[in-house]
Parts: sequence; C-alpha cells; structure tokens
Amino acid sequence: MAKGHSVYRCTECGAEHSKWAGKCDGCGAWNTLVEEAVGRTTGPARGRKGVLPASPPVRLSEIAAGRTPTRWRTGIAELDFVVGGGIVPGSLILIGGEPGIGKSTLLLQCAARLEAAGVPVLYAAGEESVEQIQLRAARLTEDAGRVQVLPEVRLDAITAQASASGTRVLIVDSIQTTYTDELEGAPGNVGQVRECAARLMRFAKETGTAVLLIGHVTRTGGIAGPKTLEHIVDTVLYFEGESSSDFRILRCVKNRFGSVDEVGIFQMTASGLTPVANPSQTFLAGRDSGISGSAVTPLLEGSRPVLVEIQALAAKSGFGTPQRVATGLDHRRLAVLLAVLERRAGLRFSDLDVFVNVTSGMRLVEPASDLAVVAALCSSLKDRAVPPDAVFLGEVGLGGEIRPVAATERRLSEAERLGFRQAFVPARGKLSTSIATIPVAHVADLARRLAA
Ligand SMILES: Nc1ncnc2c1ncn2[C@@H]1O[C@H](COP(=O)(O)OP(=O)(O)OP(=O)(O)O)[C@@H](O)[C@H]1O
Ligand SMILES: [Mg+2]
Repeated sequence: MAKGHSVYRCTECGAEHSKWAGKCDGCGAWNTLVEEAVGRTTGPARGRKGVLPASPPVRLSEIAAGRTPTRWRTGIAELDFVVGGGIVPGSLILIGGEPGIGKSTLLLQCAARLEAAGVPVLYAAGEESVEQIQLRAARLTEDAGRVQVLPEVRLDAITAQASASGTRVLIVDSIQTTYTDELEGAPGNVGQVRECAARLMRFAKETGTAVLLIGHVTRTGGIAGPKTLEHIVDTVLYFEGESSSDFRILRCVKNRFGSVDEVGIFQMTASGLTPVANPSQTFLAGRDSGISGSAVTPLLEGSRPVLVEIQALAAKSGFGTPQRVATGLDHRRLAVLLAVLERRAGLRFSDLDVFVNVTSGMRLVEPASDLAVVAALCSSLKDRAVPPDAVFLGEVGLGGEIRPVAATERRLSEAERLGFRQAFVPARGKLSTSIATIPVAHVADLARRLAA
C-alpha cells in the first residue's frame, strides 16, 4: 500500500506543521505536535456540494425493533455486569491495565466463551506469538480451541481479515503495537494510537463488530498515548490490582451503554481469572480478630459494599527518622491521620515506625475508611484488639471530628450480613439500620472507647 500523507498538528492551538518539531510555531508550546493523516474526514465538515452521506437520515421511531442492539453475554458474570449486561454489537471497548495484570488472560477467556456461545471471534495478537497464546489457553478452564488467532500488527490487515472471516467480536492485543502505514510514527506513539483507535471505531460502527482493545497503562496511570483515546471509545475499563495479591478489580470509568458504577472482582488462579462471588467473605477469610491493630471497614466498590480488613503496626523506631509505610492507602492520607491523632487525641506516634496494610490487595480511595485506619492505629498503639464483631465507618476531619459518609445503610447491611454486630459511625446523621451503632463524634472519643 502507498504510504499516505501526514501532517503534525498542535494539540494546544491546532496549528498544522508539515514536519515534526519540538516546539509549535503557532503558540510556542513544547511537545504538543501529534501526527495526523491528511485527506480523511476527521476534521470539521467542509460542506462540499454533491457529497452525500452514505445513508440517509432516519427517524428513531422508524428503526425496526430488531435493529436495536442486543447484547452478547460472555458468560463471565463479573465482566457482563461491569459492561452493563453484555457486549453491545458495534461498540469499541478499551481495557487498560498495568503490565502483567491479566488483560490478555481476561480477553482470551472472553473469546473462548463467546465462541462457545456461537459468536465468531478474531484475536489479533501483536504482542505474543500464537504458540505463547496457545500456552495461555492451555491453562484456562475454558476451551479456547475454536478461537481464531491472527498474529498481525498492521491495522488494515486486521480489519480486512475480520471482515473476510465474518468476525462479530474483534480483540486487538494491544493498541500500542498496532499501526497504520499512513503515518510515519512508530507504533505506540500518540498519533498512531489515536489514528488506529479512530479507524477501529469506524470499523466497529460500519460493520456492527464489537472491538475490544487492550491498552497499557503508564506509570502515571493514564493509558499510554493520549487521554483522547478515552473520548473516542464507547467504554473504558481498567483492570487493577496490587502485584502482591491475586485479586483483580475490573472498574468501568466510562460507558455509553450502561452505568459506570459497577466493578467486577476476580481472582487470578492457575486456571485463569475466576469471578469472586462473595468478595467480603473472601477478603475476611484469613482474619484473626483477636490481634491488636486490625479493623474492618465496608468500602463501596461501585454500588457494591465490600468489607476489607485494615492492619496497623506501630513499633518503636530503631533509627532517627521513624518510618511510615502504607500499602493500599495513600501515604499522605496516613500522614494526615497520624497528625490528627497526635494533635487532637494526644496519641504519640512521632517516635514510632508506623506500618499500615490493607489486606487482599484492595486500595482505600474513599475517606470513608478513615475511621477504620484510625481505629487500627489506636488499637496497635495501645496493643488492645478492637471488638471482634465491630466495623468502623466515617471520614476524619482535620479537627479530629468524624463526618458522615455516603451510602452508610447499604454498607452496614453488608456488615450485618457477614455477622458483624456493631458499627462505630459518625455521631451526626440519622440511620435506619438494625445493626447496633455506636456514635463517635471525635477521634479522642474513639480512642477513649477503644481503651475502655
Ligand atoms: N500458572 C499460573 N498461575 C497463576 N497465575 C498465573 C499463571 N500464569 C500466569 N499467571 C498470571 O497471569 C499474569 C499474566 O497475565 P496476562 O499475560 O494476561 O497479563 P497482561 O495484562 O496481558 O500482561 P502484558 O501487559 O504483559 O500483556 C501473570 O502476571 C500472573 O499473575
Ligand atoms: Mg497481554
């Protein structure tokens, strides 16, 4: 194929350049030029005479019921749940995640299930050889034998093959290895990634094929290449997890065909990813409630409450500057909570090493778990276990006050379901729940109660 013509456009001011340069002549910004193919209809419509749309406009009421998309269920309950009930034909779904988290495994399992359900799948592999994929397939519970694998990185060849073989679901592993000849940039650079995603979007819409794209996440957490990829695609899923744990969370951050509130929880096993049906129970399975420094809190993952254990250890520091180590929790949040305990409850941590760990590889992102972190810290400092049947829920303010959090009742009913009998909750706000609640207004109040 003849090499296409391309230009470099500034992402700040839109100025066009015929050659790449570090600095934009238009606005003076650095590192903003991105390669773009010329002669396509991505820019504003020119309104040329005699150009007719490929299909005439249609009234929504005239669209036959059969044309409204049904969904393909993959049979992987957590995945179907996260995408809103199944994969919508003609949609473009981006699955991002750190290296080695299990993106290829998840999509290979998905491919095997779809094939078994009679949906033809093409797996375009740009990162691994077919033999390597076969090795992965061999360890799965699903039989992936019928899945067609295409070792190819040229986008046009991938879409041509997908059209020729009547593919309904196309998996591209990964967008960073796929490239088009029409741009000069190397695969994985911003221009290539954006152009390939835009072309796959058009392919999906024109043929009704669902396209699942794998995208690597950079150290800073974005999908390598542009943030603009998130605008192009219909659905963005992130596959996350701590490297030290087997648990993986599939989180939806954008969905044109469903809610973004849902998360799926998986466990990586020798036979692939298995959905975790009862995460709270699984996460608390190894808990020893009699030891000091352990507290349980109901997190909200999407719309689902999930109970996790937070462990803290405060120990005499051997060296000059005491250490603060937080796993599954922002270390700055830990510093804030320690400062609040020191100033507002008179608890001395300044000469102690402090370690905080969220078990099962979950991450605390909501301030709603502050009270449990504080309870674990107080418990470790006094070397006194918290009541074994208690959960803690509340945000801690800089004044030491405990503030109410969203969806308290839903979280507490999950705690009750798992056998917890009491909940330390903010003093403000009325609750209608059957679990016994112990209102705490201030961190000093909590410290007193735990020491009593
Ligand atoms: N036999 C096994 N038992 C348990 N877990 C395994 C086994 N083999 C592989 N894994 C897990 O699968 C992960 C690799 O999965 P996969 O290749 O799907 O990840 P990926 O996100 O596609 O990675 P990459 O970014 O390199 O493409 C490993 O990091 C490991 O955690
Ligand atoms: Mg992979």
